[in-house]
Formats: sequence, structure tokens, C-alpha cells
Amino acid sequence: MGVQAGEIVAVAILFCRARVSILKHCTGRKGSGSIPCLFFNRLTGFHMPSGPAAQMPPQTPPQPGQPIAGQGAAQNSTNRGAAAGASGGASTVDLAEIEKFAAMAEAWWDPAGKFRPLHRLNPVRVGFIRDRVAQHFGRDPSDPAPLAGLSLVDIGCGGGLLTEPMARLGAEVTGVDATPRNIEIARLHAEQSGVRVTYLPCAAEDLVATGQTYDVILAMEIIEHVADVDAFIAALSRLLKPNGLLFLATMSRTAKSYALAIIGAEYILRWLPRGTHDWNRFVRPSELARGLRRHGLGIAELTGVSYNPFKDSFNLSRDLDVNYMALVKPA
Ligand SMILES: C[S@@+](CC[C@H](N)C(=O)[O-])C[C@H]1O[C@@H](n2cnc3c(N)ncnc32)[C@H](O)[C@@H]1O
Repeated sequence: MGVQAGEIVAVAILFCRARVSILKHCTGRKGSGSIPCLFFNRLTGFHMPSGPAAQMPPQTPPQPGQPIAGQGAAQNSTNRGAAAGASGGASTVDLAEIEKFAAMAEAWWDPAGKFRPLHRLNPVRVGFIRDRVAQHFGRDPSDPAPLAGLSLVDIGCGGGLLTEPMARLGAEVTGVDATPRNIEIARLHAEQSGVRVTYLPCAAEDLVATGQTYDVILAMEIIEHVADVDAFIAALSRLLKPNGLLFLATMSRTAKSYALAIIGAEYILRWLPRGTHDWNRFVRPSELARGLRRHGLGIAELTGVSYNPFKDSFNLSRDLDVNYMALVKPA
């Protein structure tokens, strides 16, 4: 995908305006561990020692359809993929990431708060998922409940921003998240909204241990936060029914995504707290396709999702350089 001239100018301005604030931030102890600083430090050779990593607690699988009390979910401490998952494979839980989400959990349902981008993304992604699922399963997307009777799991559901609309479209919905506080927030909101969702505080691999499989899996904006991408995709492949659909959304690792999603969103616009994203963990579509193929899955459709600052909204686009969504099927 080509970068437009206007975008190059905008990116250059963003970089210049951010330069001084990054310098200040990265040379101070407080900000030195954040993602932009790791990038900055790599470029400049600047280094701040980081603290010792702690161990991850062992995980226990939940029972099918049963709410659980956070056994499989992260509860404390920090380490990246330190323990094996309940299914016996590598853990997908990065406890440093979980701590970040736990600290922001109260903000999930504030449309002007830390999860504003996800609120703004919701209309376009709900429409994309509804239309593709309806088409695949022979439903009418204009029906009030086009997903009726389908089982759907939202992996890394956060506070339930996308989970609730799926239940409203008629699906039998399970939401799982490795941050227990997110699940508490999601449950409370669903109760208050009168929406029926089964929420479980656990990781993807814990769900595999239940033996449950699903017609539709959502793994939106999560793959860049997991400890082990291959183990995560392996878990998704085992949760998907043979005729099922998997939706993945993430950000590609390009210069443009660094400028817009890190410098722009975290440093200039301050849409997200600094360090929310690690650019090094963004996944290019080609890498995603390779990872999926290893587990018998294939990308059926790829679409970019672009932000329109004039309308303050996202729309589907052909630009895969920053945000994109993939519709995935068993190969
Ligand atoms: C950026 S949020 C995305 C929330 C939601 N999917 C959305 O798009 O609105 C990522 C979520 O993934 C969760 N998460 C990270 N690693 C996970 C794992 N291995 N298993 C389950 N959830 C995980 C985090 O707690 C966080 O709530």
C-alpha cells in the first residue's frame, strides 16, 4: 500500500513535534521502559536497566460454560509467557501486558476515555463481522438477530465493547479475558444493559482445555499483546469448528504505523497512555498468514481499517499499513 504525500507531511510534522517530548521522556527513569523508548533507545544506544521479572502463577482450566474465579487469568506479578498454559502448551499470557490493562480497566465504557479508539472502531468492525458471518452461514444481515443460534467466543474481550453487540445480534456469546478486572467490568456492564453473555476470566489456551469449539471466534486487537503468537494461533485453531469463522484484527509493523499508532495516538493526540502498544509486536499481514498456515488456517479476506480525522470515524479501506482485519477459515 502506498503512502500518500499528505500522509508523509503529516507524519513528518508528528515526528518533529514529538521529538522533544520523547527525548525528555526516554531519558527519565519513569518512561525508559515504554515501547517508543525501546525503539528510541535502540536507535540511540541509550539504555536504562529494568527491574527483575517475577514468576507467573500456574493455570487451571475452567469448566465448559462455567464462570470461574480467575484461575487461568493473570492475577499478579510480571513475566512474559513464563508458565505453560492449561492445555500443556506455552502460555499466551504476558503479565506485564495484563498489568497495563488492569490499570485501565475502569475506563472501558467511557467513550472519551482511554479506550476511545476502540469505541470509534466499533461501528465498522461490528458491521464487517455481522455481514461476513451472515453471508457464510446463509443469514440475512438485515434481520434483527442474524447471528441467532451461532456460538461465538470473543478472546481478549476486555470490558465487552464488541462482545455485547455480538450478543445483541443473537449469538450465544462467551467473552474471555486474561485480566480478571476486565471480566468484572464486562459482567457488570452486561448485567446493567440486560445483555446475556458468559464471561470467563481466562486465557485462550485455558478455554482449549474445556474441549469447547465455536462457530465464530473474535480475536480483535489482542495478538499484539500476547506472549507467544504461535501458541495463541494454535489455541484459536483448536477452538474453531471445521466450518467456523475466525476474525483477527491488529496493526501492521510499518513506519506508518509507528508514526500514527505510536507517536500520533500515544504522544501527540494522547488517545492512549504512552506504552500501550509495543510497535515491535505489531504483526504484518504476511507474518499472520504464515502463522495461520502452520495451524491449518487461511486468510479468506484482508481489509484495512483507516481513520478519517474529519469525520472522527474509521472505515474499511485498502490500506493495510496500520490497522487491518482478517477473516480466517480452516484451510
Ligand atoms: C486491546 S484489548 C482488546 C479488547 C477487545 N478485543 C476489543 O477489541 O475491544 C486486549 C485485551 O486482550 C487481553 N489479553 C491479553 N492477553 C491475553 C491472553 N493471552 N488471553 C486472553 N486475553 C488476553 C487483555 O487483558 C485486553 O483486555
